[in-house]
Amino acid sequence: MSSITLALSKGRIFEETLPLLAAAGITPADNPETSRKLIIGTNRPDVRLVIVRATDTPTYVQYGAADLGIAGKDVLLEHGGAGLYQPLDLNIAKCRLCVATRKGFDYAAATRPGGRIRVATKYINSAKAHFAAKGVHVDLIKLYGSMELAPLVGLADAIVDLVSSGGTLRANNLEEVEDIMPISSRLIVNQASLKLKRELIRPVLDAFAGAVK
Ligand code: PRP
Repeated sequence: MSSITLALSKGRIFEETLPLLAAAGITPADNPETSRKLIIGTNRPDVRLVIVRATDTPTYVQYGAADLGIAGKDVLLEHGGAGLYQPLDLNIAKCRLCVATRKGFDYAAATRPGGRIRVATKYINSAKAHFAAKGVHVDLIKLYGSMELAPLVGLADAIVDLVSSGGTLRANNLEEVEDIMPISSRLIVNQASLKLKRELIRPVLDAFAGAVK
């Protein structure tokens, strides 16, 4: 019997995907917040979930280790999207990609055309594209987390990071100086799976589309 595998990360994406899964008649057998299982069965014998790091979701789907996945636009822009069909913005896990600096840093001066700025981020591609469009030279420093620390200890002038409530910036005396783009999570589908398993994937896609707010 043919079956499908959906790749998800735990946290916000998992929680906000549950109502979409319910609309497709899919109920996970475990919750990754409480279970350490990485392969989670569902009420449907032909559907299983795999729990992956958010940045790895496009890779699992690209190689067909998962047929479908749910990944943030931030992650997809860094991955590049090769081999992925992206049929649907699910409008979940919403936040913004922003530039932030220490309070009092003269961002306007640093980013005058021909200016130069040092930026720490895990979103190298998005940051590069953003500053290139402004005509600003950017020295990028790749970090994997806790970006907010970088301007506080002199590692960088600014960060490019996700902002949701703004609480993390406030707690670290940083301020948002530029909004780059809104971010939400998208459904991604392996292009070969879509052809070979159309009868299983299509109804899930349609149910998700119908449930998107
Ligand atoms: C994200 C982001 C910020 C924080 C913003 O980190 O990198 O640090 O959330 O949210 P807020 O505006 O509501 O405070 P996350 O918690 O996803 O962890 P990460 O550092 O592993 O990306």
